[in-house]
Amino acid sequence: MAVNTNAAGSSPAKIVVLGTGGTIAGRATSAGDNIGYTAGEVGVEQLLGPVAAFQGAGVEFVAEQVAQVDSKDMGFALWQQLARRCAYWLEQADVAGIVITHGTDTLEETAYFLQAVLQPAKPVVLTCAMRPATALVPDGPQNLLDAVVVASTPGAHGVVAVCAGNIHSALDVQKVHSYKVDAFSSGDAGLVGLVEEGQVRQLRPWPNVPEFHVKNRPVAQAVSAQVAIKNRVMSESASEDWPRVEIVLNYAGAGGLVVDALVAQGVRGIVVAGTGNGTLHVDLQAALLRAMEAGVAVVRATRCVFGRVLATPADAIADAQGAFCKTA
Ligand code: SIN
Repeated sequence: MAVNTNAAGSSPAKIVVLGTGGTIAGRATSAGDNIGYTAGEVGVEQLLGPVAAFQGAGVEFVAEQVAQVDSKDMGFALWQQLARRCAYWLEQADVAGIVITHGTDTLEETAYFLQAVLQPAKPVVLTCAMRPATALVPDGPQNLLDAVVVASTPGAHGVVAVCAGNIHSALDVQKVHSYKVDAFSSGDAGLVGLVEEGQVRQLRPWPNVPEFHVKNRPVAQAVSAQVAIKNRVMSESASEDWPRVEIVLNYAGAGGLVVDALVAQGVRGIVVAGTGNGTLHVDLQAALLRAMEAGVAVVRATRCVFGRVLATPADAIADAQGAFCKTA
């Protein structure tokens, strides 16, 4: 990718764009087809070409194809690879920020993971598209351009997602629509900001340490827990060795079958997406309590799109402190 210099002739801001696939890199056989496409086909250099040309002087781009997947197939090995590439580039003094092109379907999970592991002092901006690159009116190029703007903004930091001109914190973003181009919401927390014609209008602070790390424990303890997680992700240990955590759902007629099966399979943690304020069917709760007795860590979230679980003294199972509300 060509190196541009700014008007004053000083060193340009270096933005690293990591491609992982998704609809933004999707290809359909017809320009009118926004759903019958194959995700993850167009290379990241090709996606970046028009954006880099438009952005002009003042930004140097590095494009790196980390993967080419439909994000429904995202897995821990790829997360580990992505976190390592981010850590490598973030350490380079001349890198101002990172943009990651990603499928929309699991974008929020990758964003949360990267924020929890890296807590970057520079911006790491995930972006995406709801229409393939071959669409008559694709949304990917504008989203990518907006993401570059955010990644180049002085003072920006942490992991955010940029889509349809909105900047979402990694800790709050959720995909809430299956086909509209403005498919994401930050729920009650609201947007971090907006990208308005190449300028960031900030509405609230950039993402910070995930709340579950610091709630109910001293900051020093939270920091050492985060360091331990980061070391594990960055170490040579395979992602298959990470403790297995599964998600189960409460619903009318829910029972304990799935939980009992997971415990028999050696699961180490369960996040239960309860109904309403994290309520659980009596049979599901009984199975979860059996799991806890067997040493499995269990936390209760809510399947509601908005809100979080508010704790009560009568709770038999601890709530997730808002950290995993978006798992439903
Ligand atoms: C994907 O998540 O990779 C496909 C769907 C999308 O990007 O919108």
